[in-house]
Amino acid sequence: MNQSVCSFSAVPLFCLLFLVSFSSSQLDYKFYDKTCPNLASIVRYGVWSAITNETRLAASILRLHFHDCFVNGCEGSILLDDSSEFTGEKNALPNRNSARGFEVIDSIKEKVEKACPSTVSCTDILTIASRDAVFLAGGPFWPVPLGRRDGLTANETAANTDLPSPFEPLEDITAKFISKGLDVKDMVVLSGGHTIGFAQCSTFKQRLFNFDGAGNPDPLLDGSLLGSLRGICPNQDDSDTNLAPLDSTTSAKFDNSYFKSLVNNSGLLQSDQVLMGDNKTAALVLTYSKVPFLFSKDFGTSMLKMSNIGILTGQKGEIRKNCRLVN
Ligand code: HEM
Ligand SMILES: *[C@@H]1O[C@H](CO)[C@@H](O)[C@H](O)[C@H]1NC(C)=O
Ligand SMILES: *[C@@H]1O[C@H](CO)[C@@H](O)[C@H](O)[C@H]1NC(C)=O
Ligand SMILES: *[C@@H]1O[C@H](CO)[C@@H](O)[C@H](O)[C@H]1NC(C)=O
Ligand SMILES: *[C@@H]1O[C@H](CO)[C@@H](O)[C@H](O)[C@H]1NC(C)=O
Repeated sequence: MNQSVCSFSAVPLFCLLFLVSFSSSQLDYKFYDKTCPNLASIVRYGVWSAITNETRLAASILRLHFHDCFVNGCEGSILLDDSSEFTGEKNALPNRNSARGFEVIDSIKEKVEKACPSTVSCTDILTIASRDAVFLAGGPFWPVPLGRRDGLTANETAANTDLPSPFEPLEDITAKFISKGLDVKDMVVLSGGHTIGFAQCSTFKQRLFNFDGAGNPDPLLDGSLLGSLRGICPNQDDSDTNLAPLDSTTSAKFDNSYFKSLVNNSGLLQSDQVLMGDNKTAALVLTYSKVPFLFSKDFGTSMLKMSNIGILTGQKGEIRKNCRLVN
């Protein structure tokens, strides 16, 4: 990104600032160019074949990267299975029976290990895969600097406390993003990740039947969407795992319709719709609903920020051989 911006820019000072703003990350766009030249195509093909078989996996991979980065930084902890040394994060509340796509990362890692053994971290693979997933789903592309290393442990408690819940008030969700070094704009634009993928009825059913304790639904839920959601999620426990699209209009396409839906009271999760309940976040939602180009551009920028959270570089951590196990 900085290369193309700078080669076309007539303003050298701007280029300088741009490069400086990313140089603190200790990552490098060419990190594996010599040691694993086929990395990009192996990852791209692995994501492509997974999505070709099951469209939803684009969403699942993107969410895995988010859940990796928000818990102890982007160091692949969500990929670890339980071990004798620690309990993994896969059974933490936000992940249990919900986080998915692990097999896609395993299968890409296997191919990468064959081509370049003990060279590429699992968390870098997940970072590239989530960028590719967004791109292959019709979204923006952004170059990803590399060189993250894998962590040596997982933390189930941190997964339970640091990941946002769909039932939390906006202030609490905002605080969680701020605590990771992100800001309100990052939070709004990254919530646009909900333009693809699905949610289980248990994550939004409280809005459908007895939101106010007097038997009424959430007044901030569009009437016709309410009707169709009640069809998918009847008011009984056995509908809890049924699925509804997070973006009811174009669920398989990475576009800005998530934001258009919020403007029309058609957000699925309460945590989505509350973005319209605050002047600052609502103004951003309105902008992204009207200017798809701005959403694409800002999404790439905020993804780069998110994929820099708490990274391990240099001699820290390790290059896992198997993403599920510490070496
Ligand atoms: C702002 C706070 C957020 C909350 C409260 C939240 C909550 C949720 C919930 C409850 C689900 C449904 C899970 C299930 O039913 O199994 C979900 C799915 C998803 N989330 Fe988020 N999320 C948030 C932010 C993000 C961010 C920042 C991203 C990525 C940039 C993201 C990407 C996704 C995707 C792609 C799915 C669909 C996954 C699939 O279909 O497998 N979310 N989220
Ligand atoms: C394709 O996806 C289905 C589920 O949608 C899964 O059962 C099957 O194993 C997948 N096939 C391949 C080759 O990944
Ligand atoms: C796990 O995370 C929790 C919550 O952030 C923290 O209090 C605890 O110290 C962490 N445990 C380890 C072993 O790092
Ligand atoms: C939102 O509502 C407006 C006005 O009712 C309508 O023109 C538009 O098509 C709606 N957009 C979506 C995404 O439903
Ligand atoms: C939000 O905007 C409304 C109407 O534009 C205004 O009346 C209200 O004071 C604003 N609230 C805050 C907290 O700025």
